[in-house]
Amino acid sequence: MTTRPIARFAGLGVAVPEKILTNTDFEKILDTSHEWIVERTGIRERHIADEDTSVAMLAEQASKGAMARAGIGPEDVDAIILGTATPDRLLPATACDLQALLGADKAVAFDVSAACPGFLYSLGVAEGFIASGLAQNCLVVGAEKLSTITDYTDRSTAILFGDAAGAAVVQPAEGDGRGVLSMFLRSDGKLAPLLYRPGGGACDPISTKVVEERSQYMKMAGREVFKAAVRTMAQACDEALTRAGVSADDIDLLVPHQANIRILEATAKHAGVPMDKVMVNVDRYGNTSSASIPLALDQAVAEGRIKQGSLLLLVAFGAGFTWGSAVVRW
Ligand code: COA
Repeated sequence: MTTRPIARFAGLGVAVPEKILTNTDFEKILDTSHEWIVERTGIRERHIADEDTSVAMLAEQASKGAMARAGIGPEDVDAIILGTATPDRLLPATACDLQALLGADKAVAFDVSAACPGFLYSLGVAEGFIASGLAQNCLVVGAEKLSTITDYTDRSTAILFGDAAGAAVVQPAEGDGRGVLSMFLRSDGKLAPLLYRPGGGACDPISTKVVEERSQYMKMAGREVFKAAVRTMAQACDEALTRAGVSADDIDLLVPHQANIRILEATAKHAGVPMDKVMVNVDRYGNTSSASIPLALDQAVAEGRIKQGSLLLLVAFGAGFTWGSAVVRW
């Protein structure tokens, strides 16, 4: 059995569209208020990509940042593993478009469909590729244009989501104890109807009926998702800590998927991590699904909250249901 850490983070990059949608903007189109949104979700604004910006383009910008920081070029990339719930097309994978944009000609490129934990699932795949010798330099990406599957007439979901991308170059660990110390991934397909996009896939291909019913957009049972999120994030925190052989007291920063401030607070409380050791930027970006963890990591590094040697607990949940966690020595 391979001993950990197998893989480490060598560089991060992000892409955030310029256009901002504030809570006040929603007050003009929906029966809602800034106060309600802040109180129930913690979200103040989210960024929305314009029509001409594809998911692959957001991923390209984030990937170039990560590659520059890692000091590698496109010719060095062995694998592009891209988590997304909003691929540019159903066929082929958005990772292949990204490969073409980067000119990473020798890489294998494919998407991972695991919704919000897509970055963690992709990190797990990268670890496997590195452990098996299939790849050295992996580009692990989370990229989303959730605005394209959000129903802006539905006040219970419209306010939650934003667009962004985050990327990391993941390389073999160097034997200095830094890297991914533990990982836990889990799914429960029985919970799929709580958060899903009913139309537009092979089950119910795009049609006039699908468009009339607006079933190409996300549907969500908010309260049930909330409860499942708190339960699964709690389990994921416990598992990652136990597998790494560390306690909550050892954690320098908890970096959770940014879905809702109340879910983050409940997760931190369960894990036993005080809120001053929790990375929160849901107020600025809303829920950016698979981009959320690399976006939070990048900001925490820029703010000096993550330094070399910091011990991090990453945790996420999302549609599927899928959930997962990792303890990382930075
Ligand atoms: N503005 C004003 N009122 C709203 C509203 C909005 N944007 N959205 C919903 N409401 C209303 C509801 O219609 C309901 O009204 P009613 O009592 O007259 O029926 C009331 O607020 C309470 O709705 P409820 O759904 O119980 O609220 P909530 O406290 O659960 O908050 C969410 C709703 C969506 C914010 C919350 O459930 C949530 O965050 N769930 C998790 C979502 C998530 O993270 N999804 C992504 C997973 S990766």
